[in-house]
Amino acid sequence: MMTLHENTDCPPSSVSVTRQRFTREVIAGLGAERKTLSPKWLYDRAGSALFDSICELPEYYVTRAELSIVERKRGEIAATWGPRVRVVEPGAGSGTKTRLFLGELGAARCSSYVPMDIAREHLAMTAVRMRSELPWLHIVPICADFTLELPLPPSDDNARNVVYFPGSTIGNFEPPEAEQLLTHFRVAAGMGGLIVLGIDLRKEPSRIHAAYNDAAGVTAAFNKNVLVRMNRELHGNIDVDSFSHYAFYEPRKGCIEMHLVSRKRQTISVAGRSFSFAEGESIRTECSYKYDLPSAERLAHKAGLTLVDAWIDDERTFAVLELQAA
Ligand code: AVJ
Repeated sequence: MMTLHENTDCPPSSVSVTRQRFTREVIAGLGAERKTLSPKWLYDRAGSALFDSICELPEYYVTRAELSIVERKRGEIAATWGPRVRVVEPGAGSGTKTRLFLGELGAARCSSYVPMDIAREHLAMTAVRMRSELPWLHIVPICADFTLELPLPPSDDNARNVVYFPGSTIGNFEPPEAEQLLTHFRVAAGMGGLIVLGIDLRKEPSRIHAAYNDAAGVTAAFNKNVLVRMNRELHGNIDVDSFSHYAFYEPRKGCIEMHLVSRKRQTISVAGRSFSFAEGESIRTECSYKYDLPSAERLAHKAGLTLVDAWIDDERTFAVLELQAA
C-alpha cells in the first residue's frame, strides 16, 4: 500500500471536499452571465479515460509531438539538469513522459520523484505503476491541488528540484493564472531549481481545429461527460443530447475554446438549483492556449523566469522549454 506524505495526506474526506468544490463552482459558473466551468471538472474516471483516447486520435497531434521530442532528446535534456535531481510533477497524469526522464536519470542521479495530484486514487495508481517499472525509484506522492499549494517536503540531500509540467497543461490557464502558477513553481523549485514545461505551439488554425473536432467524436464525448458527471454527482436532470460540442480557435489569442451549446431554450436543474439557457447559449468548458517562443518567453519573464533552453520538433508542433529563476 502506498503511503502519502504525512503532512499532505489526503484525508478520506477529500472526495467530499472535491464534491463541495464542484458544487460551488457549478453554481457560480452556471449562474454567471457568461456560463463557464473549469476544465479540471472534465477529469473524473470516465473523463480521464476519454482523454487517454483523445491522445490516440489521428487528429490530436499534441501528445505524439511531445512524446517524440522526449523520446529523442531526453538524454540531452536531462544532461542539463546536473548530477542529482528531484523530479516534481504537479498534476501527474499517467506519467509516460516522466518515466522516460526518470529512466534516463537512473538511481545515480535521481534522488526522488514527487508526483502531485488532487485525485488520490489516480496518484496512488501512478505511484504503484512507477514503482513496479522503476523499482529503484524513491517515490514521494503528495495529494494536493497544485493550483492552490505546492507543499514540497524538504529534500533529504542537496538535489536540484526539477518541476516537470508536461502535456501543455499550462495552456488551460488564462495568462494571468499561468503567470501565477509559474511563479509558484519557481518558488517551490527554490534556488537553482528548474521548470521543464511542455507547450503546444501556435500553428495552422485548421490543424488545431481538427484536433479538437475529431471525426470519431471522442472530444465531443469528453466535453459532454461533464454533463453526465453533473447528473451523477450533483443530482442533475440534464438531457446530455440537448447540448452540442463546439470548439473554435481564435488565432489572435492563440486559444482554442471548448463549449457546450444548448440546442434549445431550456431550464436544467443541478445541485438543487435551476439554470436557464436560451437557444444557442453556451457553457465554456475549456480554454487551451497555444504559445510561440516569444509569447512563452514573455510569460516566463512575468513569472520571474528566464528561458535557458528549448527543444522543438522539426514541424514546430510542440516545444519543451527549460526555465530557471531569473
Ligand atoms: C490536457 C489540457 C493539454 O488542451 O489539448 C484535449 C485537453 N481538451 N482535447 C488540451 C483537451 C480537448 C488538453 N490538455
